[in-house]
Amino acid sequence: MDIAAIAAQLEHTGYIILDKPLLDKLVAQLLTRCQHDEPSRFHAAHVGRGTDKKLIHSLRGDVIDWLDAANSTDRAYLLCMEELRLGLNAALYLGLFDYECHYAIYGAGAGYARHSDVLVGKRNRILTTVLYLNEDWQARDGGELVVFEPTGDGIIATVNPTFGKMIIFLSDGFPHEVLISHNTRRSIAGWFRASGS
Ligand code: OGA
Ligand code: MN
Repeated sequence: MDIAAIAAQLEHTGYIILDKPLLDKLVAQLLTRCQHDEPSRFHAAHVGRGTDKKLIHSLRGDVIDWLDAANSTDRAYLLCMEELRLGLNAALYLGLFDYECHYAIYGAGAGYARHSDVLVGKRNRILTTVLYLNEDWQARDGGELVVFEPTGDGIIATVNPTFGKMIIFLSDGFPHEVLISHNTRRSIAGWFRASGS
């Protein structure tokens, strides 16, 4: 990863789309890990406390599983992100303290309504990352990430979730939405956080 270039672009625009920042081999291993193979692994994500299940599904249709540092593939990814964290802190003084991330699987028909990643009561998310794991993703498969301007409805980017692509953006700067996917869509969403709240 060219961390200096990433830092410069983040400072300039607040977001960056990287075509293939990681080795294909690692992305392929991450894809192998992002399979709903055991019933106990992936579960529906939470959208605020007390929201009922049907409503949640209409807002957010993915199932998630947090990365596990005991797994060597997950650890390899976490190491890359640690290198990025240290580099960005050195370049931009962002005070990034740690990183949390989960695999996400959207089945056909699922999406994620427009939202911000800075949740009420969880104000410490500074930078969002999403890595896409989808081989041979076609335009007809949908599932684009639409990134909006900080204010208003202007669209800054429409991102096809193709294999190895990564987007990084300031978590509180850019509302975004995952359009309905017509195929199984896999990714790793993550957040660099400041310490405390
Ligand atoms: C999220 C999210 C975007 C994507 O998990 O908060 O916005 O493209 N994901 O998967
Ligand atoms: Mn989000």
